[in-house]
Amino acid sequence: MAKILSQKFYDEMKKLEPRYPTKVALLLPALHQAQSETGWLPPDVMAEIGEYIGIHPAQVKEVASFYTMYNLKPVGKYHLKICTNVACCLRGADELVEHCEKKFGIQCGDTTADKKFTLMEEECLGACGTAPAMMLNDDYVENLDISKLDKLLDSLK
Ligand code: FES
Repeated sequence: MAKILSQKFYDEMKKLEPRYPTKVALLLPALHQAQSETGWLPPDVMAEIGEYIGIHPAQVKEVASFYTMYNLKPVGKYHLKICTNVACCLRGADELVEHCEKKFGIQCGDTTADKKFTLMEEECLGACGTAPAMMLNDDYVENLDISKLDKLLDSLK
């Protein structure tokens, strides 16, 4: 099987290996490292990770599909994950989602045609005290309202 992941991926894994009791325990960091290279986790990347770790690709997918931080389909340059759990909902998260759907002309779960934005709902981000909250790629944005969200989105190139 031709390799898709870079030498940097394998170097990174070699560095991490001594810190984990088994190679299987490397699965989450391997998924994270792979996604940072490819932006999402296509089946051939999951197969390569499985081969490296020594498990079946279905087991890799089983784990990757459990965690929402792993992308099983391509995402846009800016990936918005708006928490719609209780605390955020009570403070207007649904309106934020609806606002983004209208602004981007997409439904939640979709990516804009120019591949700039992907919009998703997310479960509790652990930022209930500063609800409503969302993640923009790897960063938290808290105490959101429509005007703050618009300002942020307009500032993204
Ligand atoms: S409910 Fe939204 S961060 Fe906890």
